[in-house]
Amino acid sequence: MATTILVGAQWGDEGKGKIIDVLTEQAEVVVRTQGGNNAGHTVFVGAQKYVLHLIPSGILRTGKTCIIGNGVVIDPVSLVQEIDGLVKIGIQIEGQLLVSETAHVVFPFHRILDEQREILKGKNKIGTTKRGIGPAYGDKAARTGLRMADLVNPTRFRELFSIRIKEQNEVLKALGAEPMDFDKIHSEYRAAGDRLKPYVTNTVVKLHEALQRKASILFEGAQGTFLDIDHGTYPYVTSSNTTAGGACTGSGMPPNRIDLVVGVVKAYTTRVGEGPLPTENNFIADLLHGMGREFGATTGRPRRCGWYDSVATRHATMVNGIDHLAVTNLDGLDTLETIKVAVAYKVGSERLEYIPNDVAVLAQCEPIYEEFPGWQSPTTQARKWEDLPARAQTYLEAIARFTGAKLKIVSVGPSREQTFFL
Ligand code: IMP
Repeated sequence: MATTILVGAQWGDEGKGKIIDVLTEQAEVVVRTQGGNNAGHTVFVGAQKYVLHLIPSGILRTGKTCIIGNGVVIDPVSLVQEIDGLVKIGIQIEGQLLVSETAHVVFPFHRILDEQREILKGKNKIGTTKRGIGPAYGDKAARTGLRMADLVNPTRFRELFSIRIKEQNEVLKALGAEPMDFDKIHSEYRAAGDRLKPYVTNTVVKLHEALQRKASILFEGAQGTFLDIDHGTYPYVTSSNTTAGGACTGSGMPPNRIDLVVGVVKAYTTRVGEGPLPTENNFIADLLHGMGREFGATTGRPRRCGWYDSVATRHATMVNGIDHLAVTNLDGLDTLETIKVAVAYKVGSERLEYIPNDVAVLAQCEPIYEEFPGWQSPTTQARKWEDLPARAQTYLEAIARFTGAKLKIVSVGPSREQTFFL
């Protein structure tokens, strides 16, 4: 498998957790490189459901080294809770998890700022997960953030945190929010720092040791291409680089050592939060919600749903260099008589083949659809390509062709067994 980057090629929630879990069977090292506990990767092992927020999904298989890289922002209290939750159900963490000493720390004031900014934005709100992700990355860019190495050093943490909270409390007061109590947060974070200290290390060196011994390494993307801070539908994005390049900067992996990029898509489109979604459609949303699917793994919010948008996924192939395509949730379309795929957009009299950068223009785009006859039979029992109805095969081949990537993986349900390779 060598070194593989896995990215979401839509607006997040493409079913990456499941594909990562399947691919980690062949990987020795699994690395998270961006985002924070805004992510929620759902994995089913047998009947047991796991939702991972910060820890790479590789942790569910024994003997894998799981790295939280420098590009991730870490809420340490939440990470300790995630570790405890996994240990309670018998998952081995010690000796498997490594946390970058240069990853930035998310504080409670980041969460409050996230909330306050959303309130101030009113109808223009982003619809964030309110996990403090934007403000934490903001501090990183402003060079006022604290890193994991600071958190695990008691003297340095006290000194830096007291300066930080002083400034932040002034900001909170100006926004009409309550100032925060130094002692309470300090003791909570110091306790988390002590718990996490054994895992905190120079992950860049560990990654290169793995490279030297020719270990297979999987970089697991969180969120999706159109939530990328540079390439997404700004400002309705998250605050990290969710595209393939982010895997390198977020881990210390040299770009010329990457062998393969896998893009994950749903067989349709979903999005949580605000911002344009050209193929959004109430009929398909009602259908999927009625089946009990498409509710957010982190916030429980119903996801917005639409037809497969190949204008978007083609763009994702371009910016990520997607070689292989993994299509998930095919079974969500099993009952449909006709299935639509956006192949271009129309704005006024103009036909667009690419996603426009201006969100105001994107919001006006009307999809130009091609229609496919539905297969109207269950696909959940399919275990190989030949098991799929011919119409499902035609549909999958078409979306891969429109996307410009090679169809390699198909998923027809939540469990490990419901995934096959072509
Ligand atoms: P934030 O990352 O919490 O700042 O949220 C910014 C935008 O990204 C919002 O629209 C969120 O709904 C979206 N978002 C963040 N994380 C995820 C994810 O893991 N899946 C899908 N959408 C996400």
